[in-house]
Formats: sequence, structure tokens, C-alpha cells
Amino acid sequence: MDDLDAILGSAPERIEAARTLEALSAVETELLGRNSVITAQRRGLGQLEPSERPAAGARLNEAAQRLQGLVDERRRMLDLEAEDRLLADDRVDVTVARRSLRTGTSHLITQTIDEIADIFTAIGYQIADGPEAETAWHNFDALNTPWWHPSRLESDTMYLDYGDPEDEILLRTQTSTVQARTMESQPPPVHIIAPGRCYRTDTFDATHSPVFHQFEGLAVAEGITFADLKGTLSYFAREYFGPDRTIKVIPHFFPFTEPSAEMHVSCFACDGSGCRVCSQSGWLELLGCGMVDPNVFEAVGYDPAAVTGFAFGGGIERVAMVRHGIEDIRHLFDNDLRVNEQFV
Ligand code: DAH
Repeated sequence: MDDLDAILGSAPERIEAARTLEALSAVETELLGRNSVITAQRRGLGQLEPSERPAAGARLNEAAQRLQGLVDERRRMLDLEAEDRLLADDRVDVTVARRSLRTGTSHLITQTIDEIADIFTAIGYQIADGPEAETAWHNFDALNTPWWHPSRLESDTMYLDYGDPEDEILLRTQTSTVQARTMESQPPPVHIIAPGRCYRTDTFDATHSPVFHQFEGLAVAEGITFADLKGTLSYFAREYFGPDRTIKVIPHFFPFTEPSAEMHVSCFACDGSGCRVCSQSGWLELLGCGMVDPNVFEAVGYDPAAVTGFAFGGGIERVAMVRHGIEDIRHLFDNDLRVNEQFV
């Protein structure tokens, strides 16, 4: 029994000294396992006088319970510590500064195309498309452009196949081709907006680029009038340049519209009083437009007696340059990041 007191006296310290679960299990085996003093004494109970057995047994049980209690308590502590360590290892320090990557954005031309497409799809227009390598028929003949028109010359238009008028293939000079293609392929009514790339044999300078972009609009249905055209273009001008803009349309000529007009928008920089942006005129020339010529309807198989329509077409670079005050079209093609990053 003296052994038992010694064990009970030293046990708390030994249990406390176990720093790991493994070490604690070893101590537990020593104190309470098969070869422990307590187990040996239990086995020896039978050799005591029967009258002494209950008291001795009770003492052994009590000692074993105390030791087990201490071991269990220590085990709980070690478990908690292990969990804390795991959590600490897994911890993410959200305050650490991440190396930020520079992300790109769309080019201003793409942004402008998207914005114009949004403006027109918002009032029910559908986006239409056509090939950049185009037949001379879609680029000129269907659009009421006579064979002798100077724009058809090789000096103005880039041909992939030139010579035989039936088979000529060119790089389209205007998105007006999409008018012809769309009407060919579907009956009226038509409401389309067609942004796309165009080509002309222009020398690359401050206001010309041999590759550029246009957007084409076409609305065909019964009873469409010039007033509808003006209303639609006013809407576009307000959406794209701001709510205070007004427009004017002045007579012009295009082969595929009759009457034809040029649309001007009041200068957003001076509100029409005249400034550097609008060359003192108060107006900015923006795009061509008009009522679809009956000859165009006939060329694509529409009945000019049944429907009327309007069309308009403008340069994407042109409207973007006007709005953003860009003075040289080459800024849009040089891809100098110092320029591009101004339009994010
Ligand atoms: N296609 C013409 C050009 O490139 C622009 C244009 C004018 C388009 C009048 C039209 C229009 O649809 O009706 O200069």
C-alpha cells in the first residue's frame, strides 16, 4: 500500500509531463496497464484476510479512478492543443498584400461597337453580320451604285478578284453590304444594327485608315417615314453623347438612299456655341443616312410599293474620336499602351 501512495503522489507530475498523446499513453500503461502496480495489487487482493479485502479493494478502485481521471483530463488538453496547432497551420492571413496582376480591357473600338450595339438592341434591333470578303454585287450593284461609279475603281477599293464584273470579290468598303445580305435572306420587317470592319485604299494619316470600322442601321416595314429616321438618330445621339444633344440632318447624296442626308450632332463640348472641337460650327458631322432607295428593295426582292425603310451608316472610329476628343485616328491602331490605358 505504500507503493500505491508513492504512485499517487508522483502520478500528477508524470501525467502533466507527457507532452504528446503517445507519451501520455505510455504513462497510462505504466500506471494502469497489465504490468502496473495497481493491477498487481488487485491480483494480490485474494491473499489478504477476507475482512481486509473490501477496504483494500475500495482504495485500489478509488486510486485507479483518480489516475484515470487525471490521464483523461490530460488527454483532453493534448487533443485541444493538437487541434489548435492544426488550425494555426491552416490559417490564411487575409491581410497579406497579394501581388496584383495587371488585367487588360477591351480596345476602345471594341468598347464603342459594344456600346452602339447595346443602344440599338435596347430598342429592338438585332445585330447582323456579313463577310469582309464580299461580292461586288453586295457592295455596289445591290446598293444602286452604277458600274461607272468612281468608288468601284481599283484605286479606291481593294479587290481580291478584279476584272470580270460577274465574279468580282473585294474587301467590303462599307457595312451597307449587310443591308443587302439581310434583306436577301429574310422578309420584312427588318430592324438591324451591323457593326464591322471595312477596307479602302486610303493612305494612313490623321483622319484615314485603310482598315476601319463602320456601323450600319436598317429599318424596313410598312409605313416607315423620315420622321422615324430622325427620331431614331436623335435617340442614338442622346444615348451616345449625352441627354442634351440635338441633331440636324442636311441634304446629301448616297446611291442607296433617296432622299439622303448627313446627320450632325450638336457639339457636346460647347453645347453648340462653337469651339475648337467643332471647328467653331457648333455641330459635329457624324454619319450618312436616308430612306432606302426603291431600286435597293427591287435588287433584294422586296416590294417597294409595300414597304419603306431608312438606313444609316457611320464610322466607329469617327464617333469614338469625336466623343473622346482623339485627334489622330492612328492612336486607335498604334496600340501604344499609354493611349489604350486611357480608355479602360
Ligand atoms: N455607306 C456609307 C459610307 O460608307 C454611309 C451610309 C450613308 C450608310 C447613307 C447608309 C446610308 O446606310 O443610308 O459612306
